[in-house]
Amino acid sequence: MKVLELYSGIGGMHYALRESGIAAKVVAAIDINPVANDVYHHNFPETALMNRNIQSINAQELTKLDADVILMSPPCQPFTRLGLKKDALDNRTCSLLHILNLIPELKSLKYILLENVKGFEMSAMRNKLVNCIENCGYIYRELILSPCQFGIPNTRHRYYLLAKRSNLKFCFKQSSVESSLPPELFESLPKSEHSVLAEKKGKINPRSGRLCYTLDNILENTEQSRYSLPSKLLQKRAWVLDIRTSESSGSCCFTKGYGHYAEGTGSVYCPFTDDTIRSKYNEAGSRENDSDTQMRILSDLKLRFFSPKEVCRLMCFPEDFRFPKHITDRQKYRLLGNSINIHVLIGISELFYMFSKSGGIMIFFSWANFFSAWYFECQDSISSLIRLLSSCIFSISRYSWVFSDSNSSFCSMRFMRQLAAYPLFFRVRLRCFIRTISSRDSPRSFNCLFKSRTDIVTSSSSLMSRHGP
Ligand SMILES: C[S@@+](CC[C@H](N)C(=O)[O-])C[C@H]1O[C@@H](n2cnc3c(N)ncnc32)[C@H](O)[C@@H]1O
Repeated sequence: MKVLELYSGIGGMHYALRESGIAAKVVAAIDINPVANDVYHHNFPETALMNRNIQSINAQELTKLDADVILMSPPCQPFTRLGLKKDALDNRTCSLLHILNLIPELKSLKYILLENVKGFEMSAMRNKLVNCIENCGYIYRELILSPCQFGIPNTRHRYYLLAKRSNLKFCFKQSSVESSLPPELFESLPKSEHSVLAEKKGKINPRSGRLCYTLDNILENTEQSRYSLPSKLLQKRAWVLDIRTSESSGSCCFTKGYGHYAEGTGSVYCPFTDDTIRSKYNEAGSRENDSDTQMRILSDLKLRFFSPKEVCRLMCFPEDFRFPKHITDRQKYRLLGNSINIHVLIGISELFYMFSKSGGIMIFFSWANFFSAWYFECQDSISSLIRLLSSCIFSISRYSWVFSDSNSSFCSMRFMRQLAAYPLFFRVRLRCFIRTISSRDSPRSFNCLFKSRTDIVTSSSSLMSRHGP
């Protein structure tokens, strides 16, 4: 699939696409911000990146790219809660209006994915977008999702519009904008290291009511002074800060003003416990406002900003993501504040590109979920083999179900190779799998059933010796 990434920023959409394992290539990325483009190019040097105003692109140029997919995160300022909310009258929507004029010309286009802030769903611009795509023969779904619904300790509610040509199908129905995925859809998404960590060691996140892992999992050993809160800021804003500790299972949305302003731009970190924070604040509260003593007491808390690396982790950027050396911390926060949560977008991609032909989607979901769960969880004696198998199966199932139209021969070849290498294992899995599905049992009961069967398989010792890797 050929993907056109508009408003590409630092490449959040590109990362989500890459991490999702979907067989797709970004044929062009376009953004007007040279600093964001430096970061994008640093991480994706092979991608054709255009430093351009999207309004300067014409239909002919876009048609030449022959893209199947448009991914885009248009500027959100016209719709943000705290902004003027000028909506379609804001000049910053001109480029999106321009794209809406071009969409009818793009004959190869099949999928459109748009991300924006919560609030976009009620805008006039959203209505224009929906009218345009409906007139061009697309069907669509709308979701509002936040990382804290996926086990990640961060709140970042974002609007997502998924549109595809009406001859393609969605794997879920919708009557209105969903502010969360129905539980069965959540259940069916492939497990990730995030959800497994949250299930194993998480705490309930008050915003989502779901288990999220704690912030100690994303902290780095930073030089405290580099990110510590300036005393002026502490003096003015100490009472409105959102303070988190390593034991917190949540944090606020990091916006582009983070590291510069403290109020409403994201949480700050304290290396002490909640009890210590409370007692220090009580002590400070009993002193004269803005006095040196009060500030000394609060500075004992060693409050600091989360480092850019930590914010990257909360936004699920992969560890190999890098900023070029010349990018300052303030620029990093600004760029990250504009970007997206990669993991949420991976989940959305799973839902987006899959289809529901004759119940196939449920088989895909369960299949991918079971195997990915093993991939991250298994620790017993056969874990390495399962790891190998599950990673193969996981990608096979993605490819063969998701893109059965374009990649089936390649996938079935890989599938057959695996099948030939591990026939006994596969047969047992398949049998358990079919039994679970036909009796409509849960993934958990499949796990138990398969575990009991695999013990038999491995103890027969035929698998490892005759068909092992
Ligand atoms: C919300 S951010 C998108 C961030 C991106 N998804 C990421 O992961 O970093 C919007 C981006 O649109 C870019 N932009 C705004 N107006 C533009 C225009 N007319 N042409 C091209 N890019 C534009 C901004 O420079 C900014 O990087």
